Amino acid sequence: MTRYETLQAELAAAPRSWLVTGCAGFIGSNLLETLLRLDQRVVGLDNFATGFQANLDEVRSLVGAEQWARFTFIEGDICDLETCREAMLVDEQPVDHVLHQAALGSVPRSIADPIATNAANITGHLNMLVAAKDAGVQSFVYAASSSTYGDHPALPKVEERIGKPLSPYAVTKVVNEMYADVFAGTYGFKATGLRYFNVFGRRQNPNGAYAAVIPKWAGAMLTDETLYINGDGETSRDFCYIDNAVQANLLAATADEAAQGEVYNVAVSGRTTLNQLFEYLREALAEQGVTYAQDPTYRDFRPGDVRHSQADIGKAARLLGYDPSHTIVEGISEAMPWYLDHFHNA
Ligand SMILES: NC(=O)c1ccc[n+]([C@@H]2O[C@H](COP(=O)([O-])OP(=O)(O)OC[C@H]3O[C@@H](n4cnc5c(N)ncnc54)[C@H](O)[C@@H]3O)[C@@H](O)[C@H]2O)c1
Repeated sequence: MTRYETLQAELAAAPRSWLVTGCAGFIGSNLLETLLRLDQRVVGLDNFATGFQANLDEVRSLVGAEQWARFTFIEGDICDLETCREAMLVDEQPVDHVLHQAALGSVPRSIADPIATNAANITGHLNMLVAAKDAGVQSFVYAASSSTYGDHPALPKVEERIGKPLSPYAVTKVVNEMYADVFAGTYGFKATGLRYFNVFGRRQNPNGAYAAVIPKWAGAMLTDETLYINGDGETSRDFCYIDNAVQANLLAATADEAAQGEVYNVAVSGRTTLNQLFEYLREALAEQGVTYAQDPTYRDFRPGDVRHSQADIGKAARLLGYDPSHTIVEGISEAMPWYLDHFHNA
């Protein structure tokens, strides 16, 4: 049994209480689904800035009625401290674990509106830290980002070597880590950061200018639209399937005291270029009987993007027992039926 399998059995046998912020979003709704399937008690907080009621409805349809009854949803903004304090409590007791995912993602969104990104990602994060510290929760895990590596050229990325941030979004994620460190030093409150590397999977929004590449391309292929590659297609990423990110959250939240308060890369340690990704998606679609015959259209590089990204996941493996269950190809193949259901001839 892997450490994660053991943990799932332990949680199911002795359920705990959790707060998931950003629970109507992509990663948050997947955390919610996994926790409810394990019979956990979950409070969710989201203001629907980029999340959807449809994601919550889908989770509801996937879990049992009894499991859904263990979920309490608060529609609210993490920029409001009182809302964060309210979300920390379940039956007037502090939740055991906080998985803080709420933020405004996307590098281009932060370039277009740095003030909104700063408010949600820095003020909101600080409110969450204060509310969790004051409530006395057992553990606090937050969504950090690979964008923190910025202009540091070394590959693979190891946690202690970071460069300068290349976008307002990256600044907010660096500041998240700085606040977490300072809270450990000044208040003895440990917060654990998960530096996600391009997470993908079911319920990731394919629409709009700020969509992530995999759902955007899957959607474009399924509706037979032209698909754009920013740059020459040799930009590379360590694409991480959602199940790996969920695993990292549960392991980090329940890790030994010594492993809390750290930052961890969450990825697979693979390196896939955009040109390869295009072919993987086209092949996965072909396996589902859908042909995409168009070639991609190349256009300018996008400002703020790093050129290459690949994680060293040794630290998460050693300290958390993290052992990713899906490669990029396995993840795409598992996610493809969801894309088909949601986008085919949409
Ligand atoms: N998806 C990735 O590849 C990736 C990579 C690195 C880091 N992250 C981080 O992971 C977290 C989750 O990202 P995601 O991909 O699920 O994005 P998402 O946009 O699907 O989910 C974010 C959720 O947070 C909610 N939210 C935003 N601002 C809020 C506020 N002020 N108050 C309450 N709720 C608010 C949104 O409505 C949404 O439901 C974010 O912190 C993001 O920065 C994601």
